[in-house]
Amino acid sequence: MKKIEIAPSLLSADFYDLKADLDLCKKHKIEWLHYDVMDFDFVPNLTFGAKILKDITDRTNFKIDIHFMVKVKSVDFESFFEEYIQTKPAMMTMHIEAMSKNQASTFINLCQKNNILASLAIKPNTEIDEILEFLPIIDNVLVMTVEPGFGGQKFMSKAALKIHDLKILAQENGYHYTIEVDGGINDQTFEIVKKYNVDLVVAGSYLFGQSDFTQRLEKLK
Ligand code: DX5
Ligand code: ZN
Repeated sequence: MKKIEIAPSLLSADFYDLKADLDLCKKHKIEWLHYDVMDFDFVPNLTFGAKILKDITDRTNFKIDIHFMVKVKSVDFESFFEEYIQTKPAMMTMHIEAMSKNQASTFINLCQKNNILASLAIKPNTEIDEILEFLPIIDNVLVMTVEPGFGGQKFMSKAALKIHDLKILAQENGYHYTIEVDGGINDQTFEIVKKYNVDLVVAGSYLFGQSDFTQRLEKLK
């Protein structure tokens, strides 16, 4: 990921007319799509499972970035991801707050042996220290700039400071991970994260459901 990539978040798409939103992304040559899986346990909201994703990936060529906001019982841990892996996502992200350190290692291995980029997410109040031991091996860090659970919330600039620290850590230690930011992105907050040289930017309510999708997307380019 050299230039900043935009990943529209399907959470804010129109599910009655999902194809129209996907066609809009296709028309604008958007490569990445962000897919938020929520369980009403790790976060106070419930979204969608693998079936909708399969229907999308069967008919389109987007790079899929699955953002899991779920807790998974240890006995079911690997099998939980199976259906998602079959859809051949480009990247899968799990929250460090939702896993034991053992589960995090298992998750990273599972992704990488299936040629999926392994990504860890941190909530706005979670310190980088929590993922420090995994930084040498992961492919991406997702920095949340809102509390996970809902679209349309206000960007938390303090959380974005971690992007800078993660960049420095990568440079100093030769780590290869990219950095993704998710939550509260609009044309103004985009300018902030751009300064931090982030790689992948998620945008939900700023783009979907807006009559001027095209102009808004242009502002993020
Ligand atoms: C929130 C999700 C986000 C959400 C972002 O928990 O992880 O991906 O769709 O929505 P906006 O861009 O509206 O903040
Ligand atoms: Zn997300």
